[in-house]
Amino acid sequence: MRRNIVAGNWKSNQLFSQADELINDIAEKLRNFDSTDVDVIVCPPFPYLELVSDAAEDVEFFVGAQNVSKFDNGAYTGEVSAAMLQSMNIDYCIVGHSERRKYFFETNRDVAEKVDRLLKVDINPIVCVGELLEEREEGRHFDVIRSQVSEGLFHLSKDQITKVILAYEPVWAIGTGKTATKDQAQEMHAFIRGLIADKYSDDVAQDVSILYGGSCNAKNARELFAQPDVDGGLIGGASLKHEDFIEIACSF
Ligand code: PGA
Repeated sequence: MRRNIVAGNWKSNQLFSQADELINDIAEKLRNFDSTDVDVIVCPPFPYLELVSDAAEDVEFFVGAQNVSKFDNGAYTGEVSAAMLQSMNIDYCIVGHSERRKYFFETNRDVAEKVDRLLKVDINPIVCVGELLEEREEGRHFDVIRSQVSEGLFHLSKDQITKVILAYEPVWAIGTGKTATKDQAQEMHAFIRGLIADKYSDDVAQDVSILYGGSCNAKNARELFAQPDVDGGLIGGASLKHEDFIEIACSF
């Protein structure tokens, strides 16, 4: 279902006491927030999921994990399964972030498997795609995104794909302060929506939220979110500052 969404990706940041303070500050601000226009999602590191879920009990926001195992429960030391996330009532899970692709060698096939695990237990995957700077400079960015989207997602049924949120995050924009321009973002978002329309249908494509990520902040969010195919943002650095995060959530 296409919605306006702002998701905070805390990455591997915050000690427990800092996470506690941050989520309390966010919850406090969200208490007076009219959230009919936007779904707010907070994705903390695994050990803080319960803390964040507790804060979400009486305030309107959703909780997401940053990763999930591609295996079921079992002898996979260090892994967290989709069933475990479900048992904690986690609503969303980021999959295929470029940092997971780069440092943990995740492939499009891994993304496809993780998406399957999540959908099986009714957790909505937030699937990240994005090209490297050299891929854009060589004019290969559309090809790269086409492969990531099709290999990661196009085994899904019509019904399943509408449960997926896509996040276009050009790797050269992540954590660099170098945001994609509104035109670059719109161009790629429209391309992604077009891929979904070609594979499924226009109606299905209109039902899928596509977020922008990569140095999205309180200053540039409004301009990016105003683009017709940009349905919100996946926010890294700026999600660690509660004022900025809430201002971004108010940018529709
Ligand atoms: P950034 O990260 O906002 O710090 O660039 C975005 C992301 O990686 O999800």
